Amino acid sequence: MPMSDILTHVDAGVMTLTFNRLEKKNSITSAMYGVMADALAQASADAAVRVVVIQGHESIFSAGNDIGDFLNQAPSTQDSPVFRFLRGIASFEKPLIAAVAGPAVGIGTTLLLHCDLVYAGDNAAFSMPFVNLGLCPEAASSLLVPQMMGYHRAAEALLMGEPFFAEAALEVGLVNRVVPPTEVNGHAQAQAKKMAAKPLSALIETKRLMKGEQTPAVLARMGEEGKSFGRMLREPAAREAFGAFMEKRKPDFSKI
Ligand code: COA
Repeated sequence: MPMSDILTHVDAGVMTLTFNRLEKKNSITSAMYGVMADALAQASADAAVRVVVIQGHESIFSAGNDIGDFLNQAPSTQDSPVFRFLRGIASFEKPLIAAVAGPAVGIGTTLLLHCDLVYAGDNAAFSMPFVNLGLCPEAASSLLVPQMMGYHRAAEALLMGEPFFAEAALEVGLVNRVVPPTEVNGHAQAQAKKMAAKPLSALIETKRLMKGEQTPAVLARMGEEGKSFGRMLREPAAREAFGAFMEKRKPDFSKI
């Protein structure tokens, strides 16, 4: 992968990971998950990093998992880069901040469930279209989305795969603040710098106390979802959905 598909930058205690694959709508390849998982491990070990920001472009955060990768090198074990990345964000002990503008599809939305602060552009569109792809939720979204927005709204998002937008995300508490798309990355950076000036031990302990009890349940759910997701990636519904996307046609599930 071109190293530049994920830009990594450290400044004033803040590590920033930027999706930089605009020509493919910032969809995420296995190699990109690997880079992000390694960066999180490095951020965790490096006392000079206090806060991590994940951001995309003002026109798109991420189109989710690279569908070509799903077809050609679907994750098969819990050591796969995507699962390493997911466990990394779910157990990351320092603050994580996300800046989202434009579409955030699939893991582009579910990774936000593991961020402490989320800022959104008013063009943000969140979607978890797993069912439409013959798949099931990942990133513990089957646990965290109903908890966050209540069962019925979660069913619209996860069973219908319906998108929801910045204001709704603000209302359900997925997002802290909505700003113009051109300002979202800058706002997240400013908040990250403010947070990085606070005592790291107090940040870590506060996050641990807020999250601590639930983290094992989150990791267990990720593992359970991962097993189903890995199996479903290879089944006919998903193969039809991915084939249709690559061939730019509508999927036909009538015989499946
Ligand atoms: N994986 C691989 N390639 C992707 C991709 C993905 N998830 N999302 C977009 N791309 C590629 C397209 O194939 C296209 O490539 P091409 O120029 O070589 O044909 C390019 O990115 C531009 O995408 P396009 O669909 O033309 O852009 P758009 O602005 O019309 O739509 C999205 C943007 C994000 C709404 C749309 O691309 C989309 O729905 N992507 C798939 C999202 C998805 O289902 N992700 C998996 C979730 S689990």
